[in-house]
Amino acid sequence: MTKLRQLYYCEICGNVVEIANEGQPSLVCCGEPMNLLEAKTEDSSTEKHVPYVEETANGVVVKIGQNESHPMTEKHHIKFIEVLTKDKVYRAELKPGNEPKAEFPVKKEDIVTAREWCNIHGLWKS
Ligand SMILES: [Fe+2]
Repeated sequence: MTKLRQLYYCEICGNVVEIANEGQPSLVCCGEPMNLLEAKTEDSSTEKHVPYVEETANGVVVKIGQNESHPMTEKHHIKFIEVLTKDKVYRAELKPGNEPKAEFPVKKEDIVTAREWCNIHGLWKS
């Protein structure tokens, strides 16, 4: 079975799919099984990927990363940032040239997971 909110990636075409309802044990894209994205939680290099959540007056801002910003070039950038609460999924879609951050109208204590997907380095969460 797939699990709610899992993200799957197609190595051939780059499709990323999020599970909104649990179903079949595997997803197929371009004639091949899609790969389940496993989120990493720790940066081993100087490049920052782990989402950093900061409270604001209206909710939170999620930055990639805390002190140093992730690149946002055409070739290498953050595609989306998501905030997951118990019963909601918020997603901000980013483009090259944007700042690697997004604001969400969510209380920090309600966040179960904050995650982001880098087009080169994959899925990261905090
Ligand atoms: Fe990256």
